[in-house]
Amino acid sequence: MKGLILSGGKGSRLYPLTYTSAKQLVPVANKPVLYRVIEAIRDAGIREIGIVVGVDDNARQVREAVGRGGRWGVDVTFIPQEAPLGLAHAVKISQGFLGEDRFVMFLGDNVIQGGISPLIRQFEHSAWNSQIVLTRVEKPEQYGVAQVAEDGSIVRLIEKPKEPPSDLALVGIYMFDRHVFDAVHAIKPSWRGELEITDAIQWLVDNGYAVHPYVHRGWWIDTGAPIDMLAANDKVLEELGHEIKGFVDKESKVSDNVTVEMGAEIINSVVRGPAIIGEGTRIVNSYVGPFTSIYHHCLVEDSEIEHCIVLEHSRIVDIPVRVADSLIGRQVELSRSPYKPKAYKLTLGDHSKVGIL
Ligand code: DAU
Repeated sequence: MKGLILSGGKGSRLYPLTYTSAKQLVPVANKPVLYRVIEAIRDAGIREIGIVVGVDDNARQVREAVGRGGRWGVDVTFIPQEAPLGLAHAVKISQGFLGEDRFVMFLGDNVIQGGISPLIRQFEHSAWNSQIVLTRVEKPEQYGVAQVAEDGSIVRLIEKPKEPPSDLALVGIYMFDRHVFDAVHAIKPSWRGELEITDAIQWLVDNGYAVHPYVHRGWWIDTGAPIDMLAANDKVLEELGHEIKGFVDKESKVSDNVTVEMGAEIINSVVRGPAIIGEGTRIVNSYVGPFTSIYHHCLVEDSEIEHCIVLEHSRIVDIPVRVADSLIGRQVELSRSPYKPKAYKLTLGDHSKVGIL
């Protein structure tokens, strides 16, 4: 089997972070979501992976970050997509890479509990033409939704329906054989101008191909928006094995479920897990609360922070109130200004969101 990861798209719900970087490279528990996807596919025994990327600067960053895949022991082929014309369009342009092989398609911004090894084993030697993964969600109207008959077979699949026929959403993990190419060539763009994978799977069902639905019972998060990023971070942090590779001084208190990466320093501070402190990051006279991931080479000094993701090379210094529930980008400076007038002095990118008491 081969793997196909979709890492194109604009990531507009994560603006302003994604103006300057691909959303699939935003880290969850200090590891980019895309790396977690590559590892899930590799752990399922797949070595050949195609990654669909755009043709912009974010795509260049993905190419540079992943390279040829040697770090994971896989072979990566990049497949450029001129514009985000839909998930089925991404399959269409990947036909040359996929050939006649069965494959798993994994959306590069999805995080799933438990990996995909059992699913791959089940599909690899089955007679099914496709296997889709479904899970119960609270807001099905935000996803592709499946209507399943009493015998477990699929009746209908609809993309983001106003009136969902069930609460079973399509998780961003799909398995196909070569018949999916007939489907993606047969369907027409949807009202939003995209070739929908949901329509391609419906075409397979309508034309008598065997599409097997698997209902996933653990957690699954599509990290499209900041709130989803924080939710995924919570879940992964809870499951992380923990260790201290950096330095913790005698005055600090660090709970059991905290990871302190190489070269990190915790000085006169309290870190309550689950939390992760990245390489070369310094936490000085501060409190880091549960469900916080601070990426590499950051500084948190004389401040309190909780339930946050902080990206690399950012500095949070001398902040008088606790920073919480926040997603903070790269090289951000958050500090107290000694100069009058006493005011919030902000330099915010387009689409920034700031909550002030
Ligand atoms: O996350 C699950 C949902 O993913 C499913 O329930 C929906 O049926 C499916 O259509 C999809 O919906 P989204 O609206 O979340 O898809 P999004 O546009 O966010 O794209 C998902 C990933 O695929 C993202 O990493 C970007 C990438 N992508 C997207 C498009 C449209 C591409 O690489 N090329 C594309 O043309």
